[in-house]
Amino acid sequence: MADREFILAPSILSANFAKLGEEVANVIAAGADWVHFDVMDNHYVPNLTIGPLVCEAIRPCTQAPIDVHLMVKPVDALIPAFAKAGANIITFHPEASEHVDRTLGLIRDQGCQAGLVFNPATPLDFMEHVLDKLDLVLLMSVNPGFGGQKFIPATLAKAKQARAKLDAYEQQSGRRIRLEIDGGVNVGNIAEIARAGVDSFVAGSAVFGAGKESDPHRYDSVLAALRSELSKA
Ligand code: DX5
Ligand code: ZN
Repeated sequence: MADREFILAPSILSANFAKLGEEVANVIAAGADWVHFDVMDNHYVPNLTIGPLVCEAIRPCTQAPIDVHLMVKPVDALIPAFAKAGANIITFHPEASEHVDRTLGLIRDQGCQAGLVFNPATPLDFMEHVLDKLDLVLLMSVNPGFGGQKFIPATLAKAKQARAKLDAYEQQSGRRIRLEIDGGVNVGNIAEIARAGVDSFVAGSAVFGAGKESDPHRYDSVLAALRSELSKA
């Protein structure tokens, strides 16, 4: 898995689904690190997207890690299915699992990295007793369910709090847990988000909405612009 300081993870929710394999290959070739894969079930969130079959279909299109964000309830049955379909990272919302510790264990048992996702109103307490089982923490900076929403500014203070908790854990354990953010990230706000302690960035509409569809290099300049903002952080 890529281990650079800052990770850019375009969300394919905003990609052209009719050309998904190409979109994945192009965005990674243009400099993205991970593929963010949003799974919505019309139950935990009011939208319906893609499942393990689509993950399996795009797996041969890239060597980049696939970061599966489960917005589903219940969670557990989908974990082996996504692991088998080639997921590298699997995150879920703690409110959607009856047994958070067990679900995290299940993800790791399947050979994937595990993470918890915190909605804007979800307190960070859920991570308290399971830090040893976390590889990353994902903060939602919009309410989950749709791409193209506006970044909620209160997430910056929450990111600082989360970073402090994760830094304290690193001091004591020697293990670094990534802090990822999802929702409304763009060239105009990514530096400020990085300064709040975030190291991994999901961006859907900001990346896939860039450039002309006829241009095979359409994602190069937006990814370079995001990277250049990060270098100022
Ligand atoms: C929202 C999804 C996000 C979404 C981000 O529920 O989890 O990953 O695709 O899209 P943008 O970057 O457009 O807010
Ligand atoms: Zn997501």
